[in-house]
Amino acid sequence: MSTLYDERTQELIQQFRQHFDGEPTLVSAGPGRVNLIGEHTDYNDGFVLPVALKRDVRFVLRPRADRQVRLYSAEFGEEGSFDLDAIAFNRDKLWLNYIQGMAQSLEQEGLRLTGIDAVFSGNVPRGSGLSSSAALEVSTAHALLAASGQEGIIAGPRIAQLAQRAENKFVGVNCGIMDQFISELGRENHALLIDCRSLDYTLVPMPEEAALVIGNTRASRSLASSAYNERRRECEEGVALLQQVLPGIAALRDVSSEQLEANRHLLPENVYYRCRHVVSENERVLATVEALRQGDLAEVGALMNASHASLRDDYLVSSPALDTMVDAMRSVEGCYGARLTGAGFGGCAVALVKPGYEQAIADAVYEQYPKITSIWPEVYTTKAADGAQSAPLPSV
Ligand code: GLA
Repeated sequence: MSTLYDERTQELIQQFRQHFDGEPTLVSAGPGRVNLIGEHTDYNDGFVLPVALKRDVRFVLRPRADRQVRLYSAEFGEEGSFDLDAIAFNRDKLWLNYIQGMAQSLEQEGLRLTGIDAVFSGNVPRGSGLSSSAALEVSTAHALLAASGQEGIIAGPRIAQLAQRAENKFVGVNCGIMDQFISELGRENHALLIDCRSLDYTLVPMPEEAALVIGNTRASRSLASSAYNERRRECEEGVALLQQVLPGIAALRDVSSEQLEANRHLLPENVYYRCRHVVSENERVLATVEALRQGDLAEVGALMNASHASLRDDYLVSSPALDTMVDAMRSVEGCYGARLTGAGFGGCAVALVKPGYEQAIADAVYEQYPKITSIWPEVYTTKAADGAQSAPLPSV
């Protein structure tokens, strides 16, 4: 609670007073994420290792007696509303659909929600591959659950699945489970190893000698969604072809590097390379967890670098901007390793850094990156933060 009752929440309370009569009674937050390693593995039933960011989407709200949801987006300076009994896709206010989709997903789970009056805003950079959408969905879930007195009755992994369903089925984006899962279940100073098949998860302490720096390329991600769907199809094709000789496999998660090499002749070249990324990336995630446990940060960095190369050369989801960002980060002593993070084609890169070298990395990025790309980047430092939560607000 104390962490949620900060300046940002107090500003939202002010805005609430301006838009609705009276006081909000609850606050909810859902963080963005950065993935340390395990890219394009979640929809292949594999492993991922993200951390939640100290940046979130936050609601202050008050339950209503009816089923109306009335919202003010402080970021867009826009109002929006809907009726929980008449949820329908809104073509004019796209942000409203994440909230409607989440509400629908919770009701489909058999929960009866009450309406709310709410003001919300986020400081997760939008459209940058840091999962501002998942942050909005998961924060919405906690706002609605808290408002209807049902906070705590659904387990975290299930909330993540319901949020993913909202994004897949209502918003219409074909994402995996990683972003919603880490936004829900992240923990301060920890990365989360998620088994995207069983949804088992393990907290992995972040060593104190490791800091994270995020470089936002601010480059267009217009290719991202079509390429994402194409990569998913290629992976499915790989599984279907490999099943001829490996009938026990259900996803690329079940295929070892040896099995893939032994059956390479069955696969078209593009499919082979996509599969090689996924299979090797799963192995790198588990090796990273081991190296973190042993405090071997040089090894973690090497695995991150290898992940980037695999995403660039085998999975073909990097871009000149991302490669330039990664090069700039790695040019500084004190950088253990750096890689693109998220779906790719723009968005952000993440570097694992010796504490004290964050500013040097930022300086190198601001110095080198614009010269080559003509784009002005942004650099953020972050620590692993807690996942989503809600809390009552003190009454005035
Ligand atoms: C996006 C998706 C995730 C995941 C990553 C790639 O962030 O939302 O589910 O597939 O891309 O690792």
